[in-house]
Amino acid sequence: MPRGLPADNPPRRALRRLVHSYIICRFVCPAEAVIPLMNPDLEKLQPYPFEKLRALFSGTRPPELPHIALSIGEPKHATPRFIADSVRGHIDALGKYPLTKGALELRQAICDWLAQRFGLSPDSLDAEQHVLPVNGTREALFAFAQAVVDRTDRPLVISPNPFYQIYEGAALLAGAQLRFLPCTAATDYLPDFDAVDTATWDRCQLIYICSPGNPSGAVIPLERLQQLITLAQKHDFIIASDECYSELYFDEERPPVGLLQAAAAMGNDAYRHCVVFHSLSKRSNAPGLRSGFVAGDAQILAEFLRYRTYHGCAMPVQHQMASIAAWQDEAHVRANRDLYREKFDAVIDILSPVLEVQRPQAGFYLWVKTPGSDEDFARGLFEQQHVTVLPGSYLSREIDGLNPGRGHVRMALVATPDECIEAARRIRAYAETL
Ligand SMILES: Cc1ncc(COP(=O)(O)O)c(C=O)c1O
Repeated sequence: MPRGLPADNPPRRALRRLVHSYIICRFVCPAEAVIPLMNPDLEKLQPYPFEKLRALFSGTRPPELPHIALSIGEPKHATPRFIADSVRGHIDALGKYPLTKGALELRQAICDWLAQRFGLSPDSLDAEQHVLPVNGTREALFAFAQAVVDRTDRPLVISPNPFYQIYEGAALLAGAQLRFLPCTAATDYLPDFDAVDTATWDRCQLIYICSPGNPSGAVIPLERLQQLITLAQKHDFIIASDECYSELYFDEERPPVGLLQAAAAMGNDAYRHCVVFHSLSKRSNAPGLRSGFVAGDAQILAEFLRYRTYHGCAMPVQHQMASIAAWQDEAHVRANRDLYREKFDAVIDILSPVLEVQRPQAGFYLWVKTPGSDEDFARGLFEQQHVTVLPGSYLSREIDGLNPGRGHVRMALVATPDECIEAARRIRAYAETL
């Protein structure tokens, strides 16, 4: 039963069109009056953090220092050769339409990886029902909300704050309202599910969680994931767990837990209400492959597949074949972690005397407290040392006067060790002037 007003309100829409046409004719450009009113939800989309960053850096910069970007989370380690070789080796597949559902061989490789990585029973994962390949988690995280949100029922989507901006755009374009859960030092940079009241859980249709988190690297512990699964069962909402940083951790003996692992450990081995999102972009340094997967609740995935068939987002066959090779190899992922460990050790060593900096639990970001405003810190660092970092307030929304990203900057340690060390030295020199 729909609760509240229908989302599609014809008289209000007609009025909006009238006002829109009037504004365009009167104030913008009469010739553009014929432009139709687009999906009004598009107006709710915020500029992407990197657009804001460009506007911040309009001042001077030291031309003698080469620029170092620690702002973008794009892996820069070399893509393993066997992945590129596999794409080349299957290039004849360009002559074929790929299946939206992906090749069974790929789905099976993903099930095997999931079972091995998270200690799941192989019987609980059926390659026909529990996994779907996606073209990177970004498109999947967006598309998922379009498929699962019921617009007729005053939809509410819950997101961490700070957050990966796709969650917000996905929710808004699915016609949902958002509720943000602040992730601050006071909550160990994790969402506090106890802070959400029953009425909000009742309205919630979908919650995004990100573990290990972007930007903080915080990992949601097993018990807290199980608390959320119990809430999802009670209030009938879906958990979308973005785990795309799960393979970048520092202690080889203690990889981050995942949502499916938490579900299975509490007897929910049908993974009801649970869907996880994984990617080869960070794990395998292959962001251009656009390869990831979703896995979990078979009923939800059946509907998501129906949506995707129309959306038209099948992964090219040669990328599917290369993905099989990538999911079946752990040696390159261990080597990747070794490189990050080396960089974090060196950079933290350089920065810790001057800044409050801690090694994250996982991921490739340092989430650093700034002495003073995060925007001022980022602007000054760029102007004096030609190093770009991302102000934390650009990754968060201000709610009730609190922007939980404010007073932090995000540093992505994605470049080569030499470049990261050079950046750290310059950041230290800058911080010493403050
Ligand atoms: C938290 C988070 N989720 C998802 C993505 C998307 O990754 P991809 O689409 O390459 O799998 C990113 C990329 O930076 C991210 O930071």
